[in-house]
Amino acid sequence: MTVIAEKNPHIKVSVVDMNQARIDAWNDENLDNLPIFEPGLAELVKNNRNKNLFFSTEVDEAIRTADIIFISVNTPTKTYGRGKGMAADLKYIELCARQIARVAQTDKIIVEKSTLPVRTAQALKSILDHTGNGVQFQILSNPEFLAEGTAIADLLHPDRVLIGGEESPEGREAIQTLSDVYGSWVPSDKILTTNVWSSELSKLTANAFLAQRVSSINSISELCEVTGANVDEVARAIGMDSRIGPKFLKASVGFGGSCFQKDILNLVYIARSYGLEAVADYWEQVILMNDHQKSRFANTIISNLYNTVSGKKITFLGWAFKKDTNDTRESAAIYVADALMNEHAEITVYDPKVRPEQIYADLDYLNSRSPEDNRRLLRVVESPMEACADSHAVCILTEWEEFKTYDWEAIYHAVVKPASVFDGRNILDSKKMNAIGFQYRGIGS
Ligand code: UDX
Repeated sequence: MTVIAEKNPHIKVSVVDMNQARIDAWNDENLDNLPIFEPGLAELVKNNRNKNLFFSTEVDEAIRTADIIFISVNTPTKTYGRGKGMAADLKYIELCARQIARVAQTDKIIVEKSTLPVRTAQALKSILDHTGNGVQFQILSNPEFLAEGTAIADLLHPDRVLIGGEESPEGREAIQTLSDVYGSWVPSDKILTTNVWSSELSKLTANAFLAQRVSSINSISELCEVTGANVDEVARAIGMDSRIGPKFLKASVGFGGSCFQKDILNLVYIARSYGLEAVADYWEQVILMNDHQKSRFANTIISNLYNTVSGKKITFLGWAFKKDTNDTRESAAIYVADALMNEHAEITVYDPKVRPEQIYADLDYLNSRSPEDNRRLLRVVESPMEACADSHAVCILTEWEEFKTYDWEAIYHAVVKPASVFDGRNILDSKKMNAIGFQYRGIGS
């Protein structure tokens, strides 16, 4: 919405949320207090806030005055009932639709921005069309393809903008209205229009394909470790084939983030609910491979530390699911920490952007052990040197640039010998690490 406001000074953009604390944070004078850390975001908020970009809790008022409403509430994986652990929870979407239906007095375009299972637009339409007050709603699907950490750049220069709408004159008109909003800065050949279902399914499919590439290269990483091949070399060699391409072939401790796992589980659930077992099994394997990669990394640490980590201090550099974000959802670090804590390791975490409360909340959510035990076994510190001092192993869980610039010789002097570095992101120079004296273990080499 910030980018839409920046590029469309003639459009008034209102971001509304029931959560007063969050809205206050978006309105905070101190831009360090914005709820989301994202390179370039704070400047854009500052440029546009209270000009044509507003943050408020006046939800009804915003609904009443809007021509276009983006529904951007979260759709987490269900934690209860039918489809538990797989299906998307549409509770917040439905509540939103009911609120719009109750409040709206003029015709509106409703845009699904949240990632939704295919055919959710139908449910939205049925709720909205039964308000009985004669208001007409057009529902569009406009999935978001930005990646965290590069969100602003991705929004300013998207590969494509996808808009799905009804195949009727009113539907086409609504598509055109939304296309014009993006048309302020996105070339028209990059604005793709489809029917609603194709658009909804494209979002799940795009994420499934991206995650599949990571799982594919991660599966090869294990083969590399036993054969003496090097996964980065293999990735480079295959990526130069223009049919394969170089992106998303970086072997890692496993993909995280709010989208990949959730969207694939959703895809699997949809396929199963239509009785398409082979399709469901095919995509589920991408998740199973990712789970395997995370536990494999934890096992490598344990076996290299003489099969016991009990009472040993293990350092985690990084907790976020990737660099340049403070988001930790589904971060591999959570699962690796959990596995090591099950072996009674004592973990010290340093992450440049993630707050301690978030780290404990992530662990408590897993429910593997009591909150007290989580706080006893894991400590969060504010400096990398403090994190590494007297450590038996240093593990890289996020590819923050600053980790590459550390004085690794100084770190080597501070750790317990023999000293190991387990690089879950393959960001350090293995030769340099070995020359310093570390036993360096990257993924797939
Ligand atoms: C993803 C999609 O890229 C984006 O288009 C969609 O809108 C939302 O989901 P995001 O989850 O923000 O975006 O991050 P992404 O850059 O895709 O990374 C996801 C995970 O895969 C991260 O944990 C990342 O470290 C990992 N990854 C990515 C790898 O392990 N190797 C790679 O080569 C690329």
